[in-house]
Amino acid sequence: MKKSVKVKNSEMDFNVDFFSGENRMKNPDLRVDAEFEEKQKPVNGISAVILAAGKGTRMKSEKTKVLHEVSGKPMLAHVIDACLKARVSDITVVAGANMQQLKSFAAARYNGNNIRFVLQKEQLGTADAVSSVIKAKIPLKDGILILSGDTPLITSDTVGFLIKMFTKKSQGGIIGVSFAENPSGYGRIVRNSEDYVIRIVEDKDANDREKAIKVINGGVYIIRKDSLVRNLGKIKVNKAKGEYYLTDIAALMYAEDRPLSPVDVPYRELAGVNSRAQLAEAGKIRNKKVLEMLSENGITIVDFDTVYIEEGVEIGSDTVIQPFSVIKAGVKIGKGCTIGPSAHLRQGAVIGNNCKIGNYVEIKNSTIGNNTNVAHLSYIGDSEIGSNVNIGAGTITANYDGLKKNKTVIGDGAYVGSNAVFVAPVKIGKNAVIGAGSVITDSVPDDSLAIARPRQETKTGWVKKRRKK
Ligand code: UD1
Ligand code: CA
Repeated sequence: MKKSVKVKNSEMDFNVDFFSGENRMKNPDLRVDAEFEEKQKPVNGISAVILAAGKGTRMKSEKTKVLHEVSGKPMLAHVIDACLKARVSDITVVAGANMQQLKSFAAARYNGNNIRFVLQKEQLGTADAVSSVIKAKIPLKDGILILSGDTPLITSDTVGFLIKMFTKKSQGGIIGVSFAENPSGYGRIVRNSEDYVIRIVEDKDANDREKAIKVINGGVYIIRKDSLVRNLGKIKVNKAKGEYYLTDIAALMYAEDRPLSPVDVPYRELAGVNSRAQLAEAGKIRNKKVLEMLSENGITIVDFDTVYIEEGVEIGSDTVIQPFSVIKAGVKIGKGCTIGPSAHLRQGAVIGNNCKIGNYVEIKNSTIGNNTNVAHLSYIGDSEIGSNVNIGAGTITANYDGLKKNKTVIGDGAYVGSNAVFVAPVKIGKNAVIGAGSVITDSVPDDSLAIARPRQETKTGWVKKRRKK
């Protein structure tokens, strides 16, 4: 095709036979690919459009698909955050019947940021979804970044890289693609010898030769606004499915000599979630990534298969996370701690340095000072526990009185015997000692002993006497 575009790099002849199935890019990393001679009109900014109006029928859920969570965060939030972090702040979300759900989600989570919503009245396909944004007459910038709300693994690095490639090199635009060992379910990318996209064939519509193509459409695009607006209107309904496919724009752009360029994106970032099983799959990938990052920063994760740690957790170096531990978003843990096995740290847990949080311990919305141990079978909620404290096995803070949550404060150096219950609100002084089995309902001053349990009564010889009767 076009002669005005020259591809410098001789390594670029990777897809001589598009249909062989052997079409893996010889140079899979397009990050080092050719430069175009033709000067592009400079791009004045990027507007993101996130498609989220789909019904998500396969989830069989009252909750709209894109609000299902991966790593403790709604899928849509992953996509929005990737945009924001890549400094794309002009964001429009296409919603359908889920408009109210999505709006309240955004109000709660993105109060400061201006996330725009556009209604797609009927779910007539991905092209129709983008059209609804154009029709809403939003002042869009020159490059339209199109993403799906159901691809939660996309990173800000990738979004940033796609923008860079778009700005530098694209004709009509770029499309995120990946090599997939098992491409079924995805649209297939048909390219020419210069690597431009000739067309995209949806899985359902592909013939056997097209099905053999393993370069898949990741569903993320950046398209020049003029190209997009001009070609969206030309897309015809797919008769088999009764939908307007955004993917049909590739052939239209190729026909007018402003084709899409494929940009290679790591496969695991493109994984689309259409079912609960795929949701679990995405969660697994995300979890592994979090664990890898922590490991690289000096934290020992004893078993990658059973430890679950959400994104946005801070952990100090030389802390060891034992198997079957669950650590939720926002938790902070200091250096040199041992967590688990089977500990559950929930939102608002802040653990100091050199602490031991042992098995079957649950901590929520509480601060634990340095060198403090909560080693076995405890629930600590809405508490402030000082440093050098020992919390005996089975200790519980009774933080909820049935109406509201109340606070337990335990001073530095306190020693709490096993199986104590703190009926909050209650305050325990520094270096206080609490007898095992106590139900503490009143505050205890510094350096004092509190025992709150019935005295033991021992009846010597009672058993023998009973036998004689
Ligand atoms: C789409 C692509 C496919 C690609 C895959 C990547 C099309 C036609 N196909 O397929 O080539 O490999 O993504 O994951 O684009 N949506 C709307 N309104 C609609 C229809 C869909 O907003 O009318 C939204 C959905 O909520 C979803 C996104 O668009 O977030 C993608 O739609 P989906 O039906 O999941 O497309 P796929 O079949 O996965
Ligand atoms: Ca999808």
